[in-house]
Amino acid sequence: MSQDASLPIFGNYHGYYSKRPVVRDPRLALLPHHVFKDARVLDIGCNEGYVTCEIAQSWGAKRVVGVDIDDTLIRAAWKHRRAVWSQQEPSDATEQTNNGTDNVSRKRARDEDERVVRVTNSKSGPVPDYFPVSCEHMFGPLPIPFRPVQGTSSDSDKFPHNVVFQTADWVSSGVTDDQAKYNVVVAFSITKWIHLNGGDEGLMKFFQRVHSVLEADGIFILEPQEWETYAKAKRMSVKLKETSQNLKLKPADFPRLLHDVGFGEVEHLGSTGEGGFRRAVDLYRKL
Ligand SMILES: C[S@@+](CC[C@H](N)C(=O)[O-])C[C@H]1O[C@@H](n2cnc3c(N)ncnc32)[C@H](O)[C@@H]1O
Repeated sequence: MSQDASLPIFGNYHGYYSKRPVVRDPRLALLPHHVFKDARVLDIGCNEGYVTCEIAQSWGAKRVVGVDIDDTLIRAAWKHRRAVWSQQEPSDATEQTNNGTDNVSRKRARDEDERVVRVTNSKSGPVPDYFPVSCEHMFGPLPIPFRPVQGTSSDSDKFPHNVVFQTADWVSSGVTDDQAKYNVVVAFSITKWIHLNGGDEGLMKFFQRVHSVLEADGIFILEPQEWETYAKAKRMSVKLKETSQNLKLKPADFPRLLHDVGFGEVEHLGSTGEGGFRRAVDLYRKL
C-alpha cells in the first residue's frame, strides 16, 4: 500500500477547529485560574493556534510559543492571530490613533449587528470577541501595531505581541525559545501522534524534553488521547500500524512514566469535550 502524503499521520488535521469550539476552549477552563499569569508558555502541537492565541490574549501570559510540525498549519496560526486581533476590543489609545477610521466603521457595524453578544471577560485583558467576525470579511483584518522593543513597553507582553508560532518537529529538534525555559508547557491531543510515529522511545523522549524545558517549579498540562482511539489512527498508514505493534506503553502508564522522569503526582483536573473529543486534562508539576 503506497503512502498518501496528504494523510494527517501526525494528527495535523486542517480545519480542526471547525470541529472544536472557536472562542474559549473548555479545556483551558478546567485549569487553575492563575496558571498562565505572567508565564512563559509552550503549546506543543498548536495546530492553527486557537488555544495558543486564547492563552496569550485572555489568560495574562507573558509570552506564548506555539509549535507545530506542519508548516501550513503554522501559517494558518499567524493568520488566525491577526483575525483574533481584529475582533478584540480596542483600547482607547488604539481608537484615537492609527486605526481610528477603521474602528469607527467597525464600531458602527458592530452596533448595528444585533446578533453580537458582548461577553464579559472574566479573566484578564480586553473583550476578545468585541467585533463580530463579519467585520473582518467587510473591512479586512486590522493591521498589527508595531512591536514594541521587548521590555520598553508593557504592550510587548500583551496580545498580539506576546505570541509567536514556529514550525518544528518538537520531539526531535525543539525551538530556540526552549533555551530560555518555560513556566508552563501545554500538550493537548498530541501524545497519540507522537507515540504512533516515534514508538515508546519517541514518547519517552517527548516527556524527557518537556521536563528539561520547564523551570524548576514548572507545570505540564497534558490531555492524552485514550488507548482505544489508537486503533483508528494507526489504520491511516503502514508505518503507524507497524510502530503500534511494538508499543508496550499505554496512556494509563503516563502518570508513572512522568513520575520517573521527574514530575510529581498527577492532578486530574476533569474531562471536557463532546463525543470523541471528551478527554481528561491532567496537570503535573516538575519536582
Ligand atoms: C490533534 S491536533 C491537536 C491540536 C491542539 N493541540 C488542540 O488540541 O487543540 C495535534 C497537532 O499536533 C501536531 N504535531 C504532531 N506531532 C508533532 C510534533 N512532533 N511536533 C510538533 N507538532 C506535532 C499536529 O500537526 C497537529 O496539529
